[in-house]
Amino acid sequence: MYVSLAVSYGTAAVLAAKYLYPMKRTPTIRSIFVARLSQLPDGGTHVVTDLRGVPVQVVRQGDSLLALSTVCPHLGCRVRWEGGAKQFLCPCHNAAFDQEGKVLSGPPPRPLGRYEVEVIEGSVYLKMKEPA
Ligand code: FES
Repeated sequence: MYVSLAVSYGTAAVLAAKYLYPMKRTPTIRSIFVARLSQLPDGGTHVVTDLRGVPVQVVRQGDSLLALSTVCPHLGCRVRWEGGAKQFLCPCHNAAFDQEGKVLSGPPPRPLGRYEVEVIEGSVYLKMKEPA
């Protein structure tokens, strides 16, 4: 009887400890193929979808690549890249963002979301944490 009581309390203690102090999991980093670098000319853009289904605009400016969310941080409308003006424009409340996603005008409270980009053997990838 004492053995089964000890096993029961031990099991309850282990479960309580796991609940109160959950193990931290290191997030998995995923790479999402965008395009071959040769397919992105200077000033060229390419849209891919991230792991959450958010469209991401990848813009090449010379040797640098920038990947920005196309979801406006104000109320979530879709922004579009205007290559001639080198700005992202949100049609909902006439907001404008520069080519690095910083707010130029309008009500958005913060810049467009940025993604890490890497080039591996001539291919462009987005890097992002896998959604929980
Ligand atoms: Fe983009 Fe309001 S939703 S400015």
